[in-house]
Amino acid sequence: MLGIIELLVFILPAYIANSSPVLLGGGAKVDFGRAWGDGKRIFGDGKTWRGLFTGLLAGTLAGVVIAYSAPFELLAGILQKEFLYLPGMGSEPDFKIPFIALSFLLSLGTMVGDLAGSFAKRRIGMPPGRQFFLVDQLGFLVFALIFAIPVTVLGLDEILVLVVLTYILHVATNIFANRMGWKKVPW
Ligand code: CTP
Ligand code: MG
Repeated sequence: MLGIIELLVFILPAYIANSSPVLLGGGAKVDFGRAWGDGKRIFGDGKTWRGLFTGLLAGTLAGVVIAYSAPFELLAGILQKEFLYLPGMGSEPDFKIPFIALSFLLSLGTMVGDLAGSFAKRRIGMPPGRQFFLVDQLGFLVFALIFAIPVTVLGLDEILVLVVLTYILHVATNIFANRMGWKKVPW
C-alpha cells in the first residue's frame, strides 16, 4: 500500500486543479447562462471556462513540476504497480511522462467531477455556493480517481485513506480561503 506522502503527491494535481479556479476563474460561464429543460441553469454562475482551463492547466503543470523535482524512487513507488514498460524506452524506465499523463487525467477528472456536482446541485434546485454534503468535498476525488484508471488503479485501502484526507483538507482549506477573502462561504 502507498504511504500517506506517496498518496498526497499522487493526488496533489487534483487538489491544485480543484482549488485554482477559486482564485483565477471568471468571465464566460460554461453554460453561457443557458437553462436545462427544467428551467434551471445547466451549471450556474460558479462554473466558468477560465476556471475550467485554469484548473486543467494548473493541475497538469503541478504534475510537471513534481515529475521533474521528485526523487525517482517516489515516482516509481506511485506508478510502479501499473507501470507498462514500453518498447524503445531504453534500459532506464522514466516515470516523468507517465506521471505528467497521470496529472493531466487527474485534473481532467477533477474538472469534469466539479461540473457534474454543479449539474446535480442545479437539478435539485440548490443555488451556487450552497453546500451539498459529500458531493462538494469528495465528488471531484471520485471522478479524478476514475479518470486516472488508465495509469494508476488504487487499492480500496488507499482510496479510503484519500477519502478521509481529502475530506479533512477540503474543509480546512475552504475555511482558510474564506478567512483570506477568496471565497464568500467557508465551504
Ligand atoms: N470557479 C470557476 N470555474 C470553475 C469552477 C470554479 O470560475 N469551473 C470559481 C467560481 O468563482 C466559483 C468558485 O470558483 O464561485 C468556487 O467554486 P465552487 O465551490 O466549485 O463553485 P460554487 O460557486 O460553490 O458553485 P456550485 O454550487 O455550482 O458548486
Ligand atoms: Mg462551492
